[in-house]
This record gives sequence, structure tokens and C-alpha cells, in this order.
Amino acid sequence: MSASIISGTEISKTILSEISKEVETIKASHGKVPGLVTLLVGNSPASRSYVTLKIKTALKLGFHEVQDEQPDDISEDALLALIEKYNQDDAINGILVQLPLPKHIDEDKVLNAIDPDKDVDGFHPINAGRLLIGGNAIKFPPCTPAGIQELIVRSGVETKGAEVVVVGRSNIVGKPIANLMLQKGPGANSTVTIVHTGTKNLDTHCRRADILIVAAGVPDLVKPEWIKPGACVIDVGVNRVGERISPKTGRTNAILKGDVDFEKASEIAGSITPVPGGVGPMTITMLMKNTLKSLKYKLGLL
Ligand code: GUN
Repeated sequence: MSASIISGTEISKTILSEISKEVETIKASHGKVPGLVTLLVGNSPASRSYVTLKIKTALKLGFHEVQDEQPDDISEDALLALIEKYNQDDAINGILVQLPLPKHIDEDKVLNAIDPDKDVDGFHPINAGRLLIGGNAIKFPPCTPAGIQELIVRSGVETKGAEVVVVGRSNIVGKPIANLMLQKGPGANSTVTIVHTGTKNLDTHCRRADILIVAAGVPDLVKPEWIKPGACVIDVGVNRVGERISPKTGRTNAILKGDVDFEKASEIAGSITPVPGGVGPMTITMLMKNTLKSLKYKLGLL
């Protein structure tokens, strides 16, 4: 069997074009566009490249985009004061603080200072609680899990009654995607199991999965023989396993590998996401969707 490829790049393009149309409509009817601030602290090349992509995407969509860069040695109090400034700013609907933050800053304190109604990352405890309650209580689902659900739904995979096995229990991916998939309603209604480093017989659980979501951060953790024939495999892993020099640009690029052996798994799965080009592009797209949603809540359109 050769699996069909679930392309996050292609599905992202479709969703971004839907967002772009909605931005135009709201601009015409209400004279407002979504406002996003991206706060980058320090000079990590990986964080800078993620933030640059977010900024480019927001600008392409016609968002109001504020690029705020702060030095590595900014004090926690100064960062908290900045967040409060954006909480009060009427033109800003979404506040994105790129993680990780420098060691001297308490990350939880900073994330908890963001107005939950501008928390487009969905990391604030209030939004985590809303996700647990489910249904209309969910305001901003965290971007990577929301993107995973879109990939599953838009590639036509049946979720109702499906056995979903999530490998990994992080607050950013594992726990929220499990909560999204167990909700009652379309695109979910699944039977969900979370497995983790303390789980016995990891393989036995994975073999049961109609939909296998792997977010462990361990290259090639899931063996091809653990995959149920015909299953949908979503690989969230982005592991840097080396570097290569691009013959085109001469620049050094990271060699990325997922948590699943893509080549071998493709022979068994029914559908599978590649790394890169699978879940990755969806995270930024869902950040844009959440920022648009935030404006819609504010305008009473949701
Ligand atoms: N760093 C790595 N992933 C993310 C993310 O989804 N949001 C933020 N704010 N920082 C990150």
C-alpha cells in the first residue's frame, strides 16, 4: 500500500485564502482588520525565523502587524509592562510571545499576563480550561493541535468513533489535541488514548490506532510495524538531525526528521503527513485564524 500524502503546505494555502477573503469582507463592512503583535525577545536564529514567517503571513493577509523586538536582557517587569500595553491597545487582537524566553524570565508569569481574549496561542490557563469544557466554550484552540485537526478533517478521514492514539503529553500538543478529538461534534467524537514515556507496551497501543498522532520529539520513535494498515498518521516531530549546505543559496540548512520513519510508514499507512510540509505550516495558519477569530469576537460576529 502506498499512503496518500497529507500536505500541510497545500491545506494551509486553502485556509489562508479563506482567511484572506474574510479579512476583506470585515474590512469592507466594519472598517477593521485583525491586529497581531509578535514579541521576540533575544536573538535565537530559530525563534527569529519562526517569527519572520508569522510576520510575513500576517502582512500578506492584510493584518495590522506590530513587530516588537526586545533584547535578551530585558527585565521580567519591563516585559510584563509591555504586555499590559498591548492588552490595552484597541488595535491589537492577538498577542504572540515567541517561546522560549531567556532563563531569567518566568515564562508562565508572562503567558498568564496576556489578556485571555487576546491569547491567540491558546496557552493561558483560562483558554486551557475553555478547551477542557469544550463546545462553544472553546475560544482559541492552541495552534498546532487546531492545525492537526484541520489536516485530519480536510483530508476526509473519519473521526467519529475512531481510535485516536496520541504519543506525547505536552501542554502545547499532546494534551490539547487529545481534548479536541474527544469533543462531541463533527471532526472529533473519537475514542482517545494518550501514551507517554511512562506507558508500558507503547507498540500495542499504537497498533490499535485508526489515527496515530505522534508528538514525542524522538526521531523514528514509531516503528513501521506499529502502524495499523490503512491508518492516518500525523507526525508532529521536527527533529534537527544534521545540517547540509544548500547548493542553491550556499546557506547551511537543518536536516529535519519526524518521529516516524516516513518512507517505511508510507508503505503501511492509508495517509500520512511529511516532515517538513505537514503539521509545520498549519501552526502559523491557525495563529492567523485565531487572530481573525479574536477580532470577530470583539465585533460580535461570533
Ligand atoms: N515556540 C515554539 N512553538 C511556539 C508556539 O506555538 N507559540 C509560541 N508563542 N512560541 C513557540
